[in-house]
Amino acid sequence: MKSICFAAPLPSRAFLVTTKVVKCSKQFYSRSLFPIVSPRQRQHSSLFCNCSALSQPDTSSTLKATTEHPVVVVTGASKGIGRAIALELARAGCKVVVNYSRSASAAEQVVSEIKDVGADSLAIKADVSSASEVESLFQQVLESFQRVDILINNAGVTQDGLALRMSLDQWKKVIDLNLTGTFLCCQQASKYMLKQRRGRIVNISSVVGEMGNAGQVNYAASKAGVIGITRSLAKEFAARGVLVNAVAPGFIASDMTKELDQEKIKQMIPLGRLGTVEEVAGLVGFLALHPSAAYITGHVFNIDGGIAIGSS
Ligand SMILES: NC(=O)c1ccc[n+]([C@@H]2O[C@H](COP(=O)([O-])OP(=O)(O)OC[C@H]3O[C@@H](n4cnc5c(N)ncnc54)[C@H](OP(=O)(O)O)[C@@H]3O)[C@@H](O)[C@H]2O)c1
Repeated sequence: MKSICFAAPLPSRAFLVTTKVVKCSKQFYSRSLFPIVSPRQRQHSSLFCNCSALSQPDTSSTLKATTEHPVVVVTGASKGIGRAIALELARAGCKVVVNYSRSASAAEQVVSEIKDVGADSLAIKADVSSASEVESLFQQVLESFQRVDILINNAGVTQDGLALRMSLDQWKKVIDLNLTGTFLCCQQASKYMLKQRRGRIVNISSVVGEMGNAGQVNYAASKAGVIGITRSLAKEFAARGVLVNAVAPGFIASDMTKELDQEKIKQMIPLGRLGTVEEVAGLVGFLALHPSAAYITGHVFNIDGGIAIGSS
C-alpha cells in the first residue's frame, strides 16, 4: 500500500510566508533570494546570507561580505529531495556535506555537481539511525570544516503495510531512521550550534505526519514525531539563537513515489501534478538561509499542491 497525503492548514503568518515563496518563479526566486553568482561574486554580494545572518534579522544593510560560507549537513542527499536541497544550498554559497547510507557513487556524483558550481563539498557515509555512526558523521564534519551551521534532516524511508500485518521490524526500521535518526542528528549538530549561538535546522516531515494515512502507521508516527521534535527543540534552542523548523511535503516526484499510480494521485491534488524536488529545495533553502526567516521557529510548512486545503 502506498501513501496518500493530507495535511492541516498552516498558522496564518507562516502560511503567508510559505505561499509567497512557493508562488515565486524559479527565476524570480533565484534573483531575489539566492542570486546564482560565482564564489568570488558571493563574497561581495550584500544578498548572500553569511553565517552571522543565520539567527540575526536583516534589519538594514548590515550583512557584510564574508569568505566564511555556512557549513550544511544534508542527510540522505544522494538522491531525490536531499540531492536537490544539497545543490540549492551549494548554489547559495554553502559548503555541503552530502550524507548517504548505501548509494556511494550517487553521493560522489552530487559532490561533483556541487564542486562544478564552485562550492566545497564532501560525501560522508553514515546510517543516521545508528548513534555511533551519527557521532562519527559530525566528528568528520568538524575535522573537515571546523563548524556546523545548518542541518537538514532529510533521510527517510517507507515500509508500508496495514497495522494488523505490520511486523515489529517494519515498525522499527521506519521509526529508527525517520524519527530517531532526526533526533540523533539534531542532538549532535546542536552541540556545536548552541556553542556558536546560531544555527538553523530544517526537518523534513510529511503531510502524512499531520493527518495520518491507512497503511502507513509507522511512517505517519515517525513524521508526526518529527513535528514534535521540531516544536520542542525550537523552544529549547531559541534562547541560543538556533532555529528549528519543519517542511511537510505532499506528493513529490522521487524514487519514493515512482511506483504509485501517478494519474490517480494527480486527480487528488488541486494543482493537478506532483511537486518537484526543486520546489521543496527552494522552501528549505529559504528557511535554512534567508535573513527573513530569522524570525521563524517551531513551525511546519506544507508544500503539497493544495492537497491539504480544508483538511482540518
Ligand atoms: N517523495 C515524497 O513524495 C515525499 C513526501 C513527503 C515527505 N518525504 C520525505 O522526504 C525525504 C526524502 O524523500 P525522497 O522522496 O527524496 O526519498 P528517496 O528518493 O528515496 O531518497 C531517500 C534518501 O535517504 C537516504 N537514506 C535512506 N536510508 C538512510 C539511512 N539509514 N541513513 C542515511 N541516509 C539514508 C538515501 O540514501 P542511500 O540510497 O544512500 O541509502 C536517499 O538519499 C524523506 O524523509 C521522505 O520521508 C517525501
